[in-house]
Amino acid sequence: MIICVPKEIMKGESRVAATPETVKKFVTDGATVFVEKNAGHASLHDDEDYIAAGATIIEDTRALFEKADVILKVKEPLFNEALGVHEVELMHKGQYLITFIHPASPVNHDMVRKLAAQGVIGLTLDGIPRISRAQNLDALTSMSTCAGYKGILMAADDMANFMPQMFTAVGQIKPAKVMVIGVGVAGLQALATAKRLGAITYAADIRPAAVEQATSLGAKVVETGVPAELAIAEGGYANKLPDDVLAREREILMETIKEMDVVFCSALIPGKVAPILITEDMVKQMKRGSVIVDISIDQGGNCAITPAGGKEVKHGVLLNGIKNIPGLIPNSSTWMFSQNVYNLVKYLTKDGKISLDMSDEICQKIIVTRDGEIVHTGTREAMGI
Ligand code: NAI
Repeated sequence: MIICVPKEIMKGESRVAATPETVKKFVTDGATVFVEKNAGHASLHDDEDYIAAGATIIEDTRALFEKADVILKVKEPLFNEALGVHEVELMHKGQYLITFIHPASPVNHDMVRKLAAQGVIGLTLDGIPRISRAQNLDALTSMSTCAGYKGILMAADDMANFMPQMFTAVGQIKPAKVMVIGVGVAGLQALATAKRLGAITYAADIRPAAVEQATSLGAKVVETGVPAELAIAEGGYANKLPDDVLAREREILMETIKEMDVVFCSALIPGKVAPILITEDMVKQMKRGSVIVDISIDQGGNCAITPAGGKEVKHGVLLNGIKNIPGLIPNSSTWMFSQNVYNLVKYLTKDGKISLDMSDEICQKIIVTRDGEIVHTGTREAMGI
């Protein structure tokens, strides 16, 4: 099996899908690995390290894609400006592509159609089901961990004050107050990080299980008042709330938000637009100099005025809508991502080749395109097929 690892081409992307450590494991398992020149440079992995691990470095991107049985990437295929060609056009029939495809997202529909037309078997990492046996394959969870940690560090960096309580010769400095709204994987990591930095932490979530986990991390819980029967959807995930319930939740949250130095927004509903939990009017009532980090921005944002992809001060509050936060800790995020990808390839490999068992829940959930067809349920629904 020939595994190819291209250099990521999205602007500012510093991760790569394989490290010398995972290359070594692939080679030990019997695979041949080709890595594009400088693919690991931004995540601090040099070509020499890949070579020492058993990979061959390839400079010609077209040749790299041509050779592959399996292409490992971080981001969905994009237009390669340098070559003047879309990455999908570099792929061919029967190749496997493993990456975050985000196939249901409308911006990716054309690309997914192209993948199907090229006969590529697209496997999307965002489809990995949240079940115990899939935990070590789950790159989305790994990246949420990175975003929760780095998001709080960015907030600390943008604050005008210290985060921890301090006793100085000139008097006591009070600890910062940090609130996390939506305590899934990223939110819990944000709470833990803020706590380690010495902040007083507050948490709000509509799922009782999430609230319980936040409590165990020492956070003060802000009750949202949303009844469990409205909050929880099939499979235990959060539900999209009716407008009046959401409006009531905003009113309750406001009482705490106006006291906060940092509000970390990570409330999501799987496959849906993020709920608006902070309106512009609410931002106006916040403390001057406070910080909102809105990591739900890819799904539209929890704060109505978060700038997508950047930072901006509005009404005296710093709003951070930076995307691709895991890329800001490229070595750690690449390490986690590459381990997940290695585990997935190993899971799918039978007798030295990828073989999809379509009776298996994991295979069913990750497959996007096969035999020229778009087979991913959520994508078909989103496309109206
Ligand atoms: P997520 O990223 O989909 O959502 C983040 C949080 O936002 C959730 O806790 C959700 O309840 C909350 N939320 C949604 N609407 C809200 C609102 N209106 N107000 C306040 N909060 C709101 O969640 P994530 O990180 O995917 O985790 C969901 C669950 O899945 C967690 O309980 C986690 O432990 C579990 N999980 C299990 C895995 C496995 O078993 N392999 C892997 C990853 C997560």
